Amino acid sequence: MHIIGALDALSQTVSAFVKNGKTIGFVPTMGALHDGHLALIEQSAKDNDVTVVSIFVNPLQFNNLNDLEKYPRVLEDDIRLLENQNVDVLFTPTENELYATKPLVSINFGVLANGLEGEFRSGHFEGVGVVVSKLLHIVSPDRTYFGLKDLQQFILIKRMCEDLSFACEVIGVETVREPSGLAMSSRNSLLSETGRNNASVLYKGLQILKEGVMKGQSLKALLKNTRVIYDKAENFKLEYLEAIDPKDFSKVVKYEDLDELAVCVAGYVEGIRLIDNLYLRLK
Ligand code: PAF
Repeated sequence: MHIIGALDALSQTVSAFVKNGKTIGFVPTMGALHDGHLALIEQSAKDNDVTVVSIFVNPLQFNNLNDLEKYPRVLEDDIRLLENQNVDVLFTPTENELYATKPLVSINFGVLANGLEGEFRSGHFEGVGVVVSKLLHIVSPDRTYFGLKDLQQFILIKRMCEDLSFACEVIGVETVREPSGLAMSSRNSLLSETGRNNASVLYKGLQILKEGVMKGQSLKALLKNTRVIYDKAENFKLEYLEAIDPKDFSKVVKYEDLDELAVCVAGYVEGIRLIDNLYLRLK
């Protein structure tokens, strides 16, 4: 595995692979890698000749300094983990290099970013848009991989690449879960054992809601009941629970006319912010 920090060295290394007819898969990450990231890497390695992974904790996407400072940084462990995976290049740019000039341009995702993460993390998606655009230009992959745990991020990035004609395919990979159902996240490493157990309520609430939808029950009533479950849960503070139409991320209270439905949840356990979602194809 090549470990490269400099932008031009990265572009040159990738160009050499491309000249030799290789296809490039790209997995952007912020490190503290877990099985969810490994699933992205595995999919990339299946679809492409070469897999590039980046590790960069992007300050532009944090609206809360405390959250940025607390974000786990374990580069040595990540390198050890990646050395045993099908990864050809690890890109680890520094902040000074990636943001040699502070970007003035940002991406406005329109209605897609009005709610949920866009509403509760002001400026978050603008920062994600900038860093992902920069990384995609530097790496120039054929395909790039995002976890569906961050459903809104995936939909936004896919739309950005379509609207702005990025020459790469954006692929979503299923959420990987711990045995308790808790979605894998770099932030889970900041939780105590008890916190991790408490955090599985995110998934449990969504599963109960899913069963209700499968039985044709009212979405309004299901959302109300699930909010009660979250409010009663030990050591859990609900931030939002919303049902949306994944096409435009508009909030919905019934699903009868929808082709697909997503229910997204965010909340805090031990002061750590966690998100999860349920995606259902209805027709
Ligand atoms: O999902 C993440 O880890 C980040 O938002 C990403 C896509 C690597 C951009 O910093």
